[in-house]
Amino acid sequence: MGSGPNVAVFGAYGHTGRFVVAELRERGYVPLLLGRDQDKLLALVQNQPGLEARRASVDDKASLDRALNGATIVINCAGPFATTAAPLIEAALRAGIPYVDVAAEIEANLDTFAHFAEPARAAGTVVVPAMAFYGGLGDLLVTAAMGDWTAADEAHIAYGLSSWHPTAGTRVAGAVSGQRRGGRRVRYTRGRLEYHDNALPTLEWPFPAPLGAQSVIGEFTMADVVTIPSHLAVPEVRTYMTAKAAADLSAPDASAPTAVDERGRSAQTFVVDVLVRSNGTERRMVAAGQDIYAISAPLAVEAVDRILTGRTRTIGVASAGAVFDAPDFLRALSSHLTLHVPLGTNG
Ligand SMILES: NC(=O)c1ccc[n+]([C@@H]2O[C@H](COP(=O)([O-])OP(=O)(O)OC[C@H]3O[C@@H](n4cnc5c(N)ncnc54)[C@H](OP(=O)(O)O)[C@@H]3O)[C@@H](O)[C@H]2O)c1
Repeated sequence: MGSGPNVAVFGAYGHTGRFVVAELRERGYVPLLLGRDQDKLLALVQNQPGLEARRASVDDKASLDRALNGATIVINCAGPFATTAAPLIEAALRAGIPYVDVAAEIEANLDTFAHFAEPARAAGTVVVPAMAFYGGLGDLLVTAAMGDWTAADEAHIAYGLSSWHPTAGTRVAGAVSGQRRGGRRVRYTRGRLEYHDNALPTLEWPFPAPLGAQSVIGEFTMADVVTIPSHLAVPEVRTYMTAKAAADLSAPDASAPTAVDERGRSAQTFVVDVLVRSNGTERRMVAAGQDIYAISAPLAVEAVDRILTGRTRTIGVASAGAVFDAPDFLRALSSHLTLHVPLGTNG
């Protein structure tokens, strides 16, 4: 077992939480296992000898304070984040420690920026929402692709998922976000979020080989519309999803991911194709890998490692691309992500 500092993981026994706990151990950190259900914590500890578990509820401030006692940082993996983010951030600020979460909920991420920017800055600490596949990875890729550009006209993030077997947490997060927007759709255009009732367009996206052109749903809006405009001057941010994966997600009988390898990853593969345009010039960057839940763990843990070792660029609430050196961060994930800059772009 490692001897690095204690990293609290709230929602440690969830699907993503387990990947995060495993990744922390692999990197020599000591995860402190937090969650609201004592039985699930006990079951987790049985498989993680030597680790400590503490029960804590978002409705009980004192339990959160006890749970974070001695932790150097907290990663929140328990969603819906509309319910868990604010109480956990408040507890992290009371404890004087940084906070990272994996929230994919647009409105919850906006709330984090709106409510905690000042308190986090005043506390001299950093709060990083959406430090995961959706929100975090797209932001790092767009930031890296922009290079020396300080502004762009458009950013496009196309998700080429081979399939999408959603966890219960993903489905609940989708339902909560849907309720919060009154069933309306959302997109980021002309420098702001716009709620609308238009049908979503279906188009072809030219993913690089070997995936090639795929039918995608346009304006399949993900957390990148919060993270990217939080620090980059890009008035149009659009995200796209392979039609097949979008259909999987909304199927009434959608099944949860099943493990196919020793790391617990599913067979799902992903390509994230990022294109930024400025004055007619394009820059592009592509990342590929396996399992969108599993990849969220190295993303969150790399963030933790950089925060704990002082490799950050700002304080307050900030997204991955604003806090970290994006190209360097992406290179550090080379054992999990294949990065590629297509020829003929990046003028
Ligand atoms: N941005 C991204 O790319 C990304 C990637 C991965 C996950 N996520 C998000 O992370 C969340 C978890 O996903 P998952 O795949 O791990 O789902 P999951 O396996 O269903 O786990 C959900 C976890 O959240 C906990 N939880 C739910 N409500 C809670 C509450 N009120 N208080 C405390 N704990 C609560 C659950 O605990 P109980 O079992 O006690 O209910 C469980 O530990 C989802 O919101 C998902 O959208 C985002």
